[in-house]
Amino acid sequence: MALPSRVKLVEVGPRDGLQNEKQPVPAAIKVELVHRLQDAGLTEIEVTSFVSPKWVPQMADNAEVMAAIARKPGVRYSVLTPNLQGFEAALKSNPDEIVVFASASEAFSQKNINCSIAESIERFAPVVQAARAAGIYVRGAMSCTVGCPYEGEIAPERVAYLAGLMAGIGVQHVGVADTIGVGTPLKVQRAIEATLQHFNINDISGHFHDTYGQALANTLISLQMGVWQFDTSVAGLGGCPYAKGATGNVATEDVVYLLHGMGIDTGVDLDKLIDAGKFISDFLERKPNSRAATALLNKRAV
Ligand code: HMG
Ligand code: MG
Repeated sequence: MALPSRVKLVEVGPRDGLQNEKQPVPAAIKVELVHRLQDAGLTEIEVTSFVSPKWVPQMADNAEVMAAIARKPGVRYSVLTPNLQGFEAALKSNPDEIVVFASASEAFSQKNINCSIAESIERFAPVVQAARAAGIYVRGAMSCTVGCPYEGEIAPERVAYLAGLMAGIGVQHVGVADTIGVGTPLKVQRAIEATLQHFNINDISGHFHDTYGQALANTLISLQMGVWQFDTSVAGLGGCPYAKGATGNVATEDVVYLLHGMGIDTGVDLDKLIDAGKFISDFLERKPNSRAATALLNKRAV
């Protein structure tokens, strides 16, 4: 399988990354992070979620953050919308793309969005319909496609089932998520193969948390299968509040280093990206959770 010559990265740090932070992160810091990410060349940024502030307090400033971003031409800004209430609120912020998010595991669906998989699809259907009528692109996130914090291993058949439901309501693209980062390459391959029963390879992305250090290997096998779109998080920020112990997505810096080293274009300036990661890590008073960023920051210091 020929590798793609270019990869599209969706930067999810401001959303997936920061949603899990206990300490309040002021809207101005989130906005500055988005500005730095777009200045580093990222053209897809998942900014925030229009979810219940009782469930995820960190995302309560969603509208404020969206309003304060100086939008850069060519950059697309996406937001999570779990239901019509969230979608209607999001609409006022003029997102380029919305994300409906379901789970391949029943237990995680209940913990994360307080309903069954079937109920979540019923909730999403009118959201997808309204978004598409408004000309807003609809992406679907499929959580727990290899493992679930409550149910353990997830069979590929369940991924295929969820992908079929997503396709059935008009979702245009799906992300195959390893929410808790337990996946290893062959398991991820099977989850992607299951998704391919309902979506074209060009409409599938990888969303790999790096809890067990497998995300780069999982990225590589996905690339070998023809996947060319990945969600990544600057400085490896994040995790999910409803997946205890899971760390953030694979660090954008690490994926950019991998891809550039393989001659694959991302449009991202790694130095500027590292500065963006350092900016948010300094605010959070920790070191960037990225091996490439750490190595390159050490090199700079010499
Ligand atoms: P619920 O409590 O079942 O909702 O929550 P409800 O419809 O019964 O309403 C209860 C209250 O919530 C009401 O307020 C509603 O107005 C309010 P009250 O009358 O009690 O004052 N409400 C809302 N408020 C703001 N925005 C909304 C909204 N909807 C209802 N959209 C709900 C259901 C889905 C809202 C809740 O469970 C929720 O917000 N969950 C969010 C979970 C979340 O954000 N998880 C993290 C993102 S997913 C993720 O990280 C995984 C991903 O990265 C992929 C991967 O790695 O797997 C994408
Ligand atoms: Mg995630």
